[in-house]
Amino acid sequence: MRVLSGIQPSGQLHWGNYFGSMKPNLDLVSPQCENFFFIADLHALTSLRDHKALEAARREIVRDYLAVGFDPDRAIIYEQSAIPEHTELQWILATITPMGLLERAVSYKDKVQRGLPATAGLFTYPVLMAADILLYQADVVPVGSDQKQHVEMTRDIATKFNNAYGKTFALPEPRIYETVAVVPGTDGQKMSKSYGNTIPLFGDEKIIRKAIMGIVTDSKGAAASKNPDACTIFKLHSLFLTKGEIAALADAYRHGLSYGDAKKRLFDAAMDFFGPMRKRRSELKDADVRAVLAKGTRKAGRIASATMEQVRACVGLRKSY
Ligand code: ADP
Ligand code: TRP
Repeated sequence: MRVLSGIQPSGQLHWGNYFGSMKPNLDLVSPQCENFFFIADLHALTSLRDHKALEAARREIVRDYLAVGFDPDRAIIYEQSAIPEHTELQWILATITPMGLLERAVSYKDKVQRGLPATAGLFTYPVLMAADILLYQADVVPVGSDQKQHVEMTRDIATKFNNAYGKTFALPEPRIYETVAVVPGTDGQKMSKSYGNTIPLFGDEKIIRKAIMGIVTDSKGAAASKNPDACTIFKLHSLFLTKGEIAALADAYRHGLSYGDAKKRLFDAAMDFFGPMRKRRSELKDADVRAVLAKGTRKAGRIASATMEQVRACVGLRKSY
C-alpha cells in the first residue's frame, strides 16, 4: 500500500499540520506500506512571493519531517519541484479536467476571499495536487478535513482519465481522523498558518508558551465549573491524551479547573509529547538532511518517470526517437 501526503512550506509548521497530516501518515508506517512525504513547494508559490522565506521554509520542513519520526531509510521524502513529472502530469490532467469541477472548489473561493491573488495557479491548484497523488499511484492520502474535497477531485480526475484512455490510475482514498479533522487554533477557528492563530510544532519554547497562554476562553471565574466541550484548551489538550485521561480532564473542568491552570497543564503535556522530537530535531545535521532528500528524490523520481512513460503512451506522446 502506498501512503502519500504533502505540506506546503508556506510558514512554520503547527499542531494542525502534525495531527492532521503528519501523524496519520506516520501511524500507517508498516512493512507493507511505502510512505511518501513531500514538500509541496510549487503549491506554496500560490501564496508566497518571498524567495528567501520560501527557501528557509523548505529547509525547515524537511527537518520537521525527520524530527517527528519518519525513518529516513524507509520513508520517501522529496521536494515536489525536484521532480518535473509533477507539472508535466498536471498539464495532461488539466486537459481532461472540467472547468465546472474546479469552479466548485471551496478552497479557491476561501483563499481569494482571504486576500490571496486570484491567479490561474491558484485556480488549477487541485490539478497539481491530483498529479502529486496519481504520479505515485497512492492508495491512501492522510489529510485534515479541509483537503477532503481536493482528494475527491483527484478521484474524479483519475476516473475521467481512466475512462478516456483506459485504466491507468488507482483511485486514492482520503484518510481523515475524525478526532483531529479540524485542530482549533488559539482563537477557536481552524488552526492555520494564514490565520495567525497557530501553536508552532517546534521553535522557541517561550513562543509556544505565549501562544498557549493566549488561547481565547470565555470569562468564567477561576473556580467556576467549565464546559470542556466548548473549550479550545480542552480540545487541544485532548490531542495528547488517551480516552481515560480525556474523561478525567473533562471532570476536572467541570469541577472548576481554572483556565490558567488548564493552560499550564496543556503546555506541560505538549512539551512532554514533543520533547523527544525537539531533541531529535536539534541533533539533525545539514548533511544528513541533504542526503535524505537526495535519496528520496531518486526513489520518487524513478516511480514518477515510470508512471509518466505509461501516461505518455496512453495519450499518444510516446517519445518518437
Ligand atoms: P495551513 O492551513 O496552516 O496553511 P496546510 O494547508 O499547509 O496548512 O496543511 C497541510 C496539511 O495539514 C493538510 O493535510 C491539512 O489538512 C493539515 N492541516 C492544516 N491545518 C489543520 C488543522 N487545523 N486541523 C487538521 N489538519 C490540518
Ligand atoms: N494542498 C495541500 C495543503 O494545502 C498540500 C498538498 C499538495 C497535498 N499536494 C498534496 C497534500 C498531495 C496531500 C497530497 O495542505
